[in-house]
Amino acid sequence: MASSYGYPFEQQHCLSISQFSRPDIETLLSLGEHYLNLDVQKSPDNAVLTGKTLVNLFFENSTRTQKSFEIAGRRLGADVINMSVAQSSVKKGETLLDTAATLNAMNPDILVVRHSASGAPALLAQKLSGSVVNAGDGMHEHPTQALLDALTLRRHFGKDLGGIRIAICGDITHSRVARSDIQLLNILGCEVRLIGPPTLIPADADRWGVEVFHDMETGLDGCDAVMMLRLQLERMSGAFVPSKREYFHFYGLDRSKLAFAKPSAVVMHPGPMNRGVEISSDIADDPEVSLITAQVESGVAIRMGILHALSEAQDGIS
Ligand code: CP
Repeated sequence: MASSYGYPFEQQHCLSISQFSRPDIETLLSLGEHYLNLDVQKSPDNAVLTGKTLVNLFFENSTRTQKSFEIAGRRLGADVINMSVAQSSVKKGETLLDTAATLNAMNPDILVVRHSASGAPALLAQKLSGSVVNAGDGMHEHPTQALLDALTLRRHFGKDLGGIRIAICGDITHSRVARSDIQLLNILGCEVRLIGPPTLIPADADRWGVEVFHDMETGLDGCDAVMMLRLQLERMSGAFVPSKREYFHFYGLDRSKLAFAKPSAVVMHPGPMNRGVEISSDIADDPEVSLITAQVESGVAIRMGILHALSEAQDGIS
């Protein structure tokens, strides 16, 4: 496969959507599309990371992100090391910076890190000589999730997402996915709406280039896509909603609320889902409306694209 995609990708790290230009994003999405369309296990040109080491360092739980980076790295020929924080010296009190210095001495080419502290991947990026990928940091950002969401939307709506109306619903306050998605969808020309109770939408959200709604009926009107978010109870101190049952009544997506959107509307969720809290199983499992499985497929492909682009940038190929 050609090493250049029409634009030089020169980023050392993947920390935030805000670091990327529109051409950077187009490059990453094109690479993701390439890997989606490629039967990589049989392809002779799938080894762009041969001889490179990818370290997955997850301080928070993950299924989709951690496993898809592992699969993406292996498919591209990298040596993949999954560091289990539970069994590492972090549990003996080692600081993040000492862990970074130790890892740096082992010369990983790419470190994929998830941490509960906003900014932890950016801090590591200052200390490591290789590339750092933010796999989710606190309530700050989850840039690879936003890229996989954009890839999934392109698979459904076509390459030009301009004018697509998308509602992001639920716990916006605690969502790094929402913060990354909003930036990326705005760059791609989508019309972004946020829907949720006032307790779960930051007071300054109307300055993020979105329209804010507090009821599903008005917010979903005319929407092409509906992205539901998990109530992040583990990040809440105190009660943000009266009860899960009441939350589902007002904000949980079921058939009656989906009917407020366009008849052709599709549904997304980054996972993990709380069925019966923010989304009904009936909707989540309906292949006619749900893109949730497609999001997981896009996740492996876009992460292959991100690893590919970072590796070529390291090697000075653009
Ligand atoms: N969407 C997402 O980040 O899922 P995981 O927590 O399973 O990685």
